[in-house]
Amino acid sequence: MSKPKFAHNVFQTANHEAMRDWYCAVLDAHVVYEDDTLTFLTFDDEHHRVALLHPPVAFTAKTASTASLHHSAYTFDSLDALLERYEQLRDEGITPAVCIAHGVTTSMYYQDPDRNFVELQIDRFAEPDQATAYMRGPEYAADSVGPAFDPAELLAARRAGASVEELSDRSWALKADLPSPLTVLMGG
Ligand SMILES: [Fe+2]
Repeated sequence: MSKPKFAHNVFQTANHEAMRDWYCAVLDAHVVYEDDTLTFLTFDDEHHRVALLHPPVAFTAKTASTASLHHSAYTFDSLDALLERYEQLRDEGITPAVCIAHGVTTSMYYQDPDRNFVELQIDRFAEPDQATAYMRGPEYAADSVGPAFDPAELLAARRAGASVEELSDRSWALKADLPSPLTVLMGG
């Protein structure tokens, strides 16, 4: 039986210009179509990956206790590509709200102008089966979130010659002993 593939997210927003510009910056996306009600963006061969629905409605802002999509996530193909995007965005004044060494991924969580989280990540493992095995192993059972890390420290460590393998292991992030990242992630 054929399986569907993921296509896009659509956000309803009262703030579409800021949202459009933010997603264009963070995803290196461009506008495919825009009118008074809809904006479509893409960054690859799909006709749209993110869309904004912006009718003249005074949408209520999401709060920490709103039941809703928590975040969408985008995977880069290397740590250096993720760090390059981190640096580009930092130089434009866009910085992560929190970064987490999940162990299965190394993840930077940003918040869009409507406070939706967007995760930019790399996979630690080459094969999905390896990731699944890790998620069923003891480190994940003990803590399914993982420790926070400072992205500037990750960048500096990589520039100083640390290997991707070393930096992808939770033990590297645990050394910094930062507060639990859950506080930020649950802050909506
Ligand atoms: Fe995620």
